[in-house]
Amino acid sequence: MMATLIFLVLLLLGLLLALRPLLGPKEPFPEPPRREELLRELSVLQEEVAALEGEERKLALARMVELERALEGWRPPEPRPFNPLPVALALGVVLLLGVGLWRYSLPRLPGETTVTQRAEARELKALQDKARRTGAVEDLLAWGRRAYEVQAWDQAAEAYLEVLKKDPRNVEAVRRVGILLFMGGRLEEAEMFLQIAQHADPKAAEGWLFLGNLYFQKGENGAAIAAWERYLEVGGEARERVEGLIAMAKAQAQGAKDGLSVYQARCALCHGAQGEGGVGPRLKGNPILKSPEAVREIVLKGRGQMPPVPLGEEELKTLLDYLAGL
Ligand code: HEC
Repeated sequence: MMATLIFLVLLLLGLLLALRPLLGPKEPFPEPPRREELLRELSVLQEEVAALEGEERKLALARMVELERALEGWRPPEPRPFNPLPVALALGVVLLLGVGLWRYSLPRLPGETTVTQRAEARELKALQDKARRTGAVEDLLAWGRRAYEVQAWDQAAEAYLEVLKKDPRNVEAVRRVGILLFMGGRLEEAEMFLQIAQHADPKAAEGWLFLGNLYFQKGENGAAIAAWERYLEVGGEARERVEGLIAMAKAQAQGAKDGLSVYQARCALCHGAQGEGGVGPRLKGNPILKSPEAVREIVLKGRGQMPPVPLGEEELKTLLDYLAGL
C-alpha cells in the first residue's frame, strides 16, 4: 500500500517534471526548483527504499542512482529555447516507468502480497472464479484448499463455508472452518467444529494440532497435551514443534501446582485459607513449620484427628516451600 502511494507520488512528480516546460510562463530567474525537486525525491526514496522488496526495491535504487547522477552533474539551467523533443522523450520514459511500476505495484489481487506471488494469486483467482461459476462442491474445495495453502484466510473461510452450505457433513470443511474460527479468536465455536471434525475423521493431523492449540489457549493443559499426542500418533509432520509444545504444556501444568494451590486443595479446609487455623491448629507462625521433616511426617502419616494426606514428592516439596514462607 505504502509502496503504491510512493510510486503514485513519484509518477506524478515525474509527469510534473516532464510537463513543467509546457506549463506556465517561462521564468529564467529565480532558479527553477529542479534541483530541490530532485533532492526531495531522493530523500523520499532514501526513506522508503528500506521498506521495499524485490523488483520495487531495484527500481527505487535505480531511480536513486539516476537522481544522484543528475544532482552531481547539475548546473543552474541556462534559459534556452523550448525544444519539444526532450520533453517528449522524458514523457515517454516517465510513462514507461509509470506503467512498469503500475504493473508491478498497483493492481494486487486478493491474497497477493509480493511481486513473486502474482502467479499464485492469479491461480487463486481462477479457482475462485470457477468455484463461483459452477458452485460445485469439489470446485469450492479446490478453491478453499488453495486459499488455505497461500494463507488467504478470508477466501478460505468463504470457500469452506460455501461447501458447508452445500454439504454440511463435509469433514474437511468442518475442520478447516474450525481452524479458521480458532485463528479468528472464536474459541467456543472453533472447539465445537474441531471436536465434530476430529470425531468424524480422527486421522486428520492438523485438526489435532489446532484442537491442542485451542485447549492450551483456554488453559486446559491436560486436554491440550492429549490432543497434541494424538497429532503425533497420526503422524503429523511438525513433530519437533509439537513435541516442544507438549513439553512446554507439561512444564506449565507442573508449575501451576505450586505450593499455594496444593495447600488450598489439601489443607485449607481444616487449617484455614491463610493457615489461621480451623478444625486443625493454626499453622501460620507455628514453630513446627521450622521443621519440614516433622511436617512431612504429619502430612503423610496423619496425626490424631488429622488424616494422612497422600501427596506426590513434587507436590509435597512445593507445599513445604510454601509453608516455610507462611
Ligand atoms: C481433615 C482436616 C485436616 C486436613 C485436611 C489437614 N489437617 Fe493438619 N491437622 C488437622 C488436625 C485436626 C490437627 C491436629 C492433630 C493433633 O495433633 O491431634 C492437624 C495438625 C497438623 C499439624 C501439626 C500442627 C501442630 O502444631 O502440631 C500440621 C503441621 C498440619 N496439620 C499440617 C497439615 C498440612 C500441611 C495439611 C495439608 C497437606 C493438613 N495438615 C491437612 C486437621 C487437618
